[in-house]
Amino acid sequence: MPKTKTSFFCQNCGTQYAKWVGKCTACNEWNTIVEEVLQKEEKRAWKQTSTPKKVSKPIKINEVAISEEDRIHTQNNELNRVLGGGLVKGSVTLLGGEPGIGKSTLLLQVALAISKKVLYVSGEESQSQIKMRADRLDNNNPNCLVLTETKTQNIFKSIEDEQPDVVVIDSVQTLHTDYIDASPGSISQIRETSAELIKFAKETATPVILIGHITKEGAIAGPKILEHMVDVVLQFEGDRNHTYRILRAQKNRFGSTAELGIYEMQNAGLREVENPSEILISEKDESLSGTAIGATLEGMRPLMIEVQALVSTAVYGTPQRSATGYNIKRLHMILAVLEKRAGFRLGAKDVFLNIAGGITVDDPAIDLAVVAAILSSNEDIAIPQDLCFAAEVGLAGEIRPVNRVDQRILEAEKLGFSTIVVSKFNKIAKTNYKIKVVLVSKVEEVFQLLF
Ligand code: TYD
Ligand code: MG
Repeated sequence: MPKTKTSFFCQNCGTQYAKWVGKCTACNEWNTIVEEVLQKEEKRAWKQTSTPKKVSKPIKINEVAISEEDRIHTQNNELNRVLGGGLVKGSVTLLGGEPGIGKSTLLLQVALAISKKVLYVSGEESQSQIKMRADRLDNNNPNCLVLTETKTQNIFKSIEDEQPDVVVIDSVQTLHTDYIDASPGSISQIRETSAELIKFAKETATPVILIGHITKEGAIAGPKILEHMVDVVLQFEGDRNHTYRILRAQKNRFGSTAELGIYEMQNAGLREVENPSEILISEKDESLSGTAIGATLEGMRPLMIEVQALVSTAVYGTPQRSATGYNIKRLHMILAVLEKRAGFRLGAKDVFLNIAGGITVDDPAIDLAVVAAILSSNEDIAIPQDLCFAAEVGLAGEIRPVNRVDQRILEAEKLGFSTIVVSKFNKIAKTNYKIKVVLVSKVEEVFQLLF
């Protein structure tokens, strides 16, 4: 009987200590250090005895063969896009998100649609619960196997019997291995069980998708090292009050992290939203003052986003400013610019700004739409619905160029806008657009143009 070896881990950041301390020196959290049992390396659960250990030799990089089949198409275009073209064989993907956002739904839907043999391992729901969900999704795939198990040794036994092409684990926090005494969800269990799964994925070239819960702060629960260990980290986010969900890649060893997938949660599962602008522009019969549409880019994808502003006389001494989905500091800056350069008396007004649809925009190209929405609400004059904006606003009140303006113009044209306002300093490659491109260089010009 070997001597049990223990060590102390911070439950917040995963730092290892030789003895107990009250405060983690790495992340400065108090009372997060817990003693956990360690186990020797060679007793890992995943041991493939049949294949002898390969010793890899160096190969010239241009001679390394890769083929298209190295990616498995998931039959889910949004997911494929975020993954960079499909699931890479032997890759480990971590999908994080708040409880109830739809992680299990998304992966079960993928498992049911994919034309490969999938083993869906759930430690959170029973087989009949998963079947009920599958019925709800109205999709039946005889190639989808469900297993309720949390012990990795047993999971690997099923994997050996069934030889699946894809393995889905719902969730890493429920897994445990016999070789460690700590409770499921603890740092050393998460680290050990995911290490076993990663080893399995690499050795058999089977893609593994792990579901991970996130903490209150939005980080994937468990040690940060989990994010370093896996190949792809996806984040599924959204607002409980809104039906659509956004899938982002935080890390992707096989593709861009700028890509974005959009889904809508419906009664029969998640619908892929191919044309996101349709949900981001609210429908209304007539033009209302205080709204403007910005042509933004999320990753490689153009998105038309509606900005709503409400400017009203301040009742209290200090005017209120609030922004949802837009950086509040940037709103302050834009208000200061409008105050100073264009002489609008916004100092005595409350300003509320909202990006429609609960989305958060980082793209500076939305600035001009923000300016237009504020001015429109202030003047109480509506902006024509077929007009949109794509430019950044500088501190001097200058309208600055934005990247990939042609792509934005094309998207606006495709969606039936008649006019787009961009910076005069933008180099526009094509000139024969059907849509009218208006060039402006100063905030004042925008004001004159609109009112
Ligand atoms: P779920 O996938 O269980 O979330 P997670 O695994 O991230 O915790 O999603 C559950 C929510 O989705 C639940 O509140 C109900 C809703 N839902 C639908 O609206 N339509 C559906 O078809 C399904 C299966 C779930
Ligand atoms: Mg779930």
